[in-house]
Amino acid sequence: MKALSFNNGDQMPVLGLGTFKSQPGEIYQTVKDAVRLGYRHIDCAYFYGNESEIGQALSEAFQEGVTTREQMWITSKLWNSFHAPEDVPEGLDKSLACLKLDYLDLYLMHWPVAIRRDVHFPEKAADLIPLADLPTTVTWQAMEDLVDRGLCRHIGVSNFSIVKLKALLKNARVKPEVNQVELHPYLQQPALAEFCRQNGIYLTAYSPLGSPDRPARAKVAGEPVLMEDPVIKAIAEKHGATPAQILLSWLIDQGASVIPKSVNPRRLEQNLAAVDIALDREDLLEIGRLNRNRRYYTGGVWTIEGSPYTMTNLWDE
Ligand code: A2P
Repeated sequence: MKALSFNNGDQMPVLGLGTFKSQPGEIYQTVKDAVRLGYRHIDCAYFYGNESEIGQALSEAFQEGVTTREQMWITSKLWNSFHAPEDVPEGLDKSLACLKLDYLDLYLMHWPVAIRRDVHFPEKAADLIPLADLPTTVTWQAMEDLVDRGLCRHIGVSNFSIVKLKALLKNARVKPEVNQVELHPYLQQPALAEFCRQNGIYLTAYSPLGSPDRPARAKVAGEPVLMEDPVIKAIAEKHGATPAQILLSWLIDQGASVIPKSVNPRRLEQNLAAVDIALDREDLLEIGRLNRNRRYYTGGVWTIEGSPYTMTNLWDE
C-alpha cells in the first residue's frame, strides 16, 4: 500500500482503519477482518473505550502469523484528562496496556483542550482547565519524553489550528509530525494544509466520509450529506466506484492519510480499494469547488456555558 514516509524512514500506510464509534462487541471482529483484508494501519484512542478489544484482535493476528507488530502502524491518542505532564505517561500506559503493545507508532494529543484529571468528559465549566493554566507546550514536553523512552516512534497532535501548531513548533524539541483533523471536500482547510506541508507535518483526515453515524448531539437537522453529494456521486459513477471511494481517493490525492471507520467487511474492502483509484484533473477541480468550511464535529462539547473554551479560541478562526 502507498505510504507516507517519515524522516527516520518509517512509513505510515495512507489508509488506516478508524475505530471511533466502533462498539465493544464489534470492533474485535472488525480488526481481525481488517488485518486479514490487508489493513496495516489502525487509528485508536483511549477515549474511544474499545482499545482492549483491538489489542486482543491484534495479539491474535500476530500469534496466528497474519501480520507482525513491525508491519502494523498503530496510532493512539492522549485523552484530555491526562494533559498535566505528570499524568502523560499514565495516559499512554493505559493505551499500551489495553492494546497489548510495548510501543506506539504514533501518539497524538487528542485535543488542544485540558480537562480535570478526575473527569472523563466535561459536564460543567469547572471540569475544564484553561490552556493558560495548562498549556499544550507543557503537555508536549512530557510527550517528547515518551519518544526518548522508546514508547512512541512519532508524536503529533489532533484538532490543532495553525496558531496552535506555531506555538508548539516554537518550543518543540521533537517536532509534531502529524496533525489529525476533520478533512473532506466540505472542509478542505487549504491554509492549514499549506502550513502543514511547509512545516513537514502530515495531515490525517478524520470523518473522511462525513461521519454519518455521529452521535445525535453532533448532528444538525438538514445538514448536507457528504456521501450523497451529486458531484461526488457523478464522479463515482464515472469511475465505476462508490462515493465513499471517491472521497477517500481525493484525500489521498491531497497528500493526507485517511482513516475511514467501518465495521462491515464489504465496506472495509471497498475502502481499502480506494487507494488504487486515480482521479483526473477535472475531478479534482470539481471536488475543489465543493468546499464550504463545514465541520461535522464543531467541538461544541468543549464550549459549554462558562467554559474557558470558545469556538473562536478553539479553532482560532
Ligand atoms: P459501517 O461502519 O456500518 O460500515 P467516518 O469514517 O467518516 O466516520 O464514517 C463512518 C461511517 O460511514 C459509518 O457509519 C460507516 O458505516 C460508514 N461507511 C464506512 N465505509 C463506507 C462505505 N464504503 N460506504 C458507505 N458507508 C460507509
